[in-house]
Amino acid sequence: MIRRAVAMIVAVLVTTSTMAMDQEKAEKVTEVRRAVLEVVGWNIGPMAGMIKERIPYDREIFRRNAGRIAFMLEMVPEAFGPDTREAVLETEALDVIWEEFDEFRDLAGEARDKAVALEATAGSGEFAQVQAAFLEMGQACKACHDKFREED
Ligand code: HEC
Repeated sequence: MIRRAVAMIVAVLVTTSTMAMDQEKAEKVTEVRRAVLEVVGWNIGPMAGMIKERIPYDREIFRRNAGRIAFMLEMVPEAFGPDTREAVLETEALDVIWEEFDEFRDLAGEARDKAVALEATAGSGEFAQVQAAFLEMGQACKACHDKFREED
């Protein structure tokens, strides 16, 4: 009887401490995910301003920022690798990410490819071509957000 009770208490303690650890790890990984995407957002800001002709088009800055976005997007599948559905988090990441991770990974890859293409176009193309490539990348961001990110 007593032995069983002790075993149960030990089991509860072990489970609780593992859960606490998972919660902490999940919070950390969420921080990283949001940081990665925030950097993407930071870089797209001036690009959007140039596309809308609110600020002058600067080919060099545009090209540089597209390259940074491609670089950051490469980290997305890795950063979302750990399944954090069980944790209580401040996040816009939807559970469906881990139900359909292959699609999530593909969309990240597509957006990255569009950013690479945009970088190349900005390096050599006309402004109208850059606008078109920017739109394509934007659609790739939206394709993922529509399915995998909670709406504001
Ligand atoms: C493969 C899916 C995917 C792609 C592609 C993607 N995003 Fe996201 N994005 C997300 C998810 C999921 C979140 C929510 C993250 C969270 O709250 O934990 C997010 C959040 C964000 C945020 C908010 C970050 C914050 O402060 O929490 C910004 C800004 C953002 N994305 C911009 C972009 C832009 C710009 C692109 C395209 C260049 C892009 N994203 C492409 C999935 C994606």
